[in-house]
Amino acid sequence: TMRVFVDCDPGIDDAVALAYLAARPDVEIAGVGAVFGNSGVDATADNALRLLELYGRPDVPVAVGAARPLVQPPRLAPHVHGGNGLGGVELPAPSREPVAESAAELLVRLARQSPGELDVLAVGPLTNLAIALGLEPNLPSLVRKLVVMGGAVQVPGNVSSHAEANIANDPEAAEAVLGAGFDLDLVALDITMRTVATTAWLDELKTVPGERARRTSQFLDFYADFYTGIFGSRQCAMHDPLAAAVLLDAHLVTASFDAPVRVELSGGLTRGMTVADLRPRPGQDERRPVRVVTGVAEEEFLTRMLDALR
Ligand code: BDR
Ligand code: CA
Repeated sequence: TMRVFVDCDPGIDDAVALAYLAARPDVEIAGVGAVFGNSGVDATADNALRLLELYGRPDVPVAVGAARPLVQPPRLAPHVHGGNGLGGVELPAPSREPVAESAAELLVRLARQSPGELDVLAVGPLTNLAIALGLEPNLPSLVRKLVVMGGAVQVPGNVSSHAEANIANDPEAAEAVLGAGFDLDLVALDITMRTVATTAWLDELKTVPGERARRTSQFLDFYADFYTGIFGSRQCAMHDPLAAAVLLDAHLVTASFDAPVRVELSGGLTRGMTVADLRPRPGQDERRPVRVVTGVAEEEFLTRMLDALR
């Protein structure tokens, strides 16, 4: 059994990532942290509670995390995820409240409970993880693996020419996390913009019976409207579920490279950019390299994602 903490800002693709995890009998979702990002943190925490009920994990603790980045003012994404973060779809109100601990406190407590056994999936701005590092600087050795959806290493960004949303939403936090020494897989736009839910996949989801598929398809209708404008045909990026798959189904990764990655904090045009040191011998004082995923078994991923919603 894998023990996973999920830090997220649901968020339509975050929702699909939660579905992917929830469908797996071999996965214990030990806790979910909510962070601002696609919507405000009160909305993302509330959505996490609703989604865990929808996807059949009503007992997973949900903790409210950061409402804003460490330094800059927050910026939300209602044009991508809807004003409520779920494409305007109203799920039934949750039957419970978030826990009293903050997301960072919950993460640290869970990591200390089973050193070397907790995996972390971070699919929102990295503020909660940066705060957790402040509480427990030893976190990277308490956690088995961290998979981050974020960055644009050798491709354009999505919120600016060079920056991806999760990193750009809190560059200082992302820089702290990428430099902390985690065993870290980076699932960046390099792979997520090439591994998309096709029109056929979206159509097939509509034929899947049951509430999970029906609701998820409603969220994705909103999300696909936005992405149609990006791709020029009806398909959408599946950033966060792909990161979940990289954690749960490591064999899906067909290509990757290791490099130290830093976050640009001061560039006038490039703040929030992920800068990989691709020299064969990065500088002596460099940080631990992260694994940047550049290839995945796309068909199998799409099949697994659909199966998770059946
Ligand atoms: C990331 O930003 C968010 O809008 C998505 O949920 C995903 O985590 C993609 O850049
Ligand atoms: Ca997200």
